[in-house]
Amino acid sequence: MEICNRESRLYASCHEKIHREETFRQGKVSTLRELIDALHDAFKTDHVDIDHVQDLMASYKSNPLEWKKYAKFDRYRYTRNLVDEGNGRFNLMVLCWGEGHGSAIHDHANAHCVMKVLQGELCETRYAWPSVSEGSDDTKELEELERNTLRLNDICYINDSLGLHRVENPSTMNPAVSLHLYSPPFETCSVFNKQTGRKTSCKVTFWSKYGEKRNREIQNTRDPEDN
Ligand SMILES: [Fe+2]
Repeated sequence: MEICNRESRLYASCHEKIHREETFRQGKVSTLRELIDALHDAFKTDHVDIDHVQDLMASYKSNPLEWKKYAKFDRYRYTRNLVDEGNGRFNLMVLCWGEGHGSAIHDHANAHCVMKVLQGELCETRYAWPSVSEGSDDTKELEELERNTLRLNDICYINDSLGLHRVENPSTMNPAVSLHLYSPPFETCSVFNKQTGRKTSCKVTFWSKYGEKRNREIQNTRDPEDN
């Protein structure tokens, strides 16, 4: 009887696993844990199907109980909080935007970026790459391409071929939280001056990792503007 029970448990867990993998393949997940597992699965091979990754990010419905341990705010600036390092193939992080907080205009270091709103609303403004050549003394204001409002559970995708962007929480009343996936992970990107089009290199850092309490040492050395 005991063996039979064990076998039926094994069968059930195997069946569950197959069912879970099938729903992952269809781009459906229902919890943050499932999303992370499905992302690991999606990045197992060298060829990444970024449409599938976007489907997975879109299918997760924000549940604050699942992500609140990562949502660590700073009163002065938005924060980046690492959730998962994706076996070195991607970084998944929760960004916390206080009222009026925003990023600099930045690029994405040749990486894919998929972001999703978990709480509140965010405004994304896209810009064309500077038209003045690097090293030249000329300056030219960056050309704005479009503005998008991202609401709860919306996702957006950008990479360097689509231009640059700035993300901000336009609300003076409500904080916002977003989930970001970057692949491959990067440690530096470029930030751009809107008026001159000039770029500077910027190191990206984490305010917290894996829900552990924030790292003041890192935070205090953070560059004045990063993404
Ligand atoms: Fe970005």
